[in-house]
Amino acid sequence: MQHLLSLEATSRDDILTVLDLAVKMKSTRGRHEAHPLRHQCWALMFSKSSTRTRVSFEVGIRELGGDVIFLAADDIQLGRGEPIEDTARVIGRMCHGAVIRTFGQDEVENFAKFSRIPTINALTDGEHPCQILADLQTVAEKLGTFSGKVITFIGDGACNVPLSWLWAASKLDFELRIAAPAHYQPDPAIVARAFPPGKIGGGKLVITDDLKAAARGADVLYTDVWVSMGKEEESEYRIAQLASYQIDAALVKLAKPGALVMHCLPAYRGKEITAEVFEAHADTIFTQAENRLHAQKAILSLLVAPRAPK
Ligand code: CP
Ligand code: NVA
Repeated sequence: MQHLLSLEATSRDDILTVLDLAVKMKSTRGRHEAHPLRHQCWALMFSKSSTRTRVSFEVGIRELGGDVIFLAADDIQLGRGEPIEDTARVIGRMCHGAVIRTFGQDEVENFAKFSRIPTINALTDGEHPCQILADLQTVAEKLGTFSGKVITFIGDGACNVPLSWLWAASKLDFELRIAAPAHYQPDPAIVARAFPPGKIGGGKLVITDDLKAAARGADVLYTDVWVSMGKEEESEYRIAQLASYQIDAALVKLAKPGALVMHCLPAYRGKEITAEVFEAHADTIFTQAENRLHAQKAILSLLVAPRAPK
């Protein structure tokens, strides 16, 4: 693995390798024999707010022996219009790797190309790959496996989190159902790329506006905010459009007994999830948050691992 820019660009084998190592990272935390980031300094360059991603990367890089600098995009010249290509060439000559949270997917891809250092997508408008890797780890931890399971995403089905789920489902053998109103369903061009006609292998994808049908018999009900970062101006409209796509106790009853309820956080109680359901499933939800640390330490370790010569 050279970068983690998206799950679209990550192979099934690499996803499974990350997940295996994430489990080991979790069980050996505090007594790692290897410190693969020793003598390295990684840059975290964020154009959007973050709690989980920032803390988990800062802690994870340090636990792997590295140092880290946090660069809020508005505090550096990038925020005053310096091109990402120039920022990347500067950071690439001084840092050993970069973790980027921004808007356009093209920005992380350009950063990786121009910096020539390992680059991790810490959320773009297009994908949130680190989140879904931690979520897959959580599903396997709580249910034994994600293979053969039905994972139902409810809410804004066109944002980064469900899109990374969609790419995961295209490579791994589980069924992903996305329940969203027509305007908030994944772009058909992305669906066609991920699930081309005649595709062999990987899982199954169902997209529907019928949230009850999508929840029925599911192993996991998953939701995310209705108003993603950068969409604040659309708040009122989105809240009205997505109002019925809420995980409440009645919806949970339609899922399998013992089904997981998951949320990438931050959560808005009374919007995408009720307070009652959130608290009843808080252990799973905060395990997801914790697993960001372990999954990302696995990603970081694999990105700096020596590669066999071609
Ligand atoms: N889930 C997630 O990425 O959280 P933050 O926005 O707090 O990093
Ligand atoms: N879809 C959300 C995820 C937050 C972790 C956003 O982009 O704001």
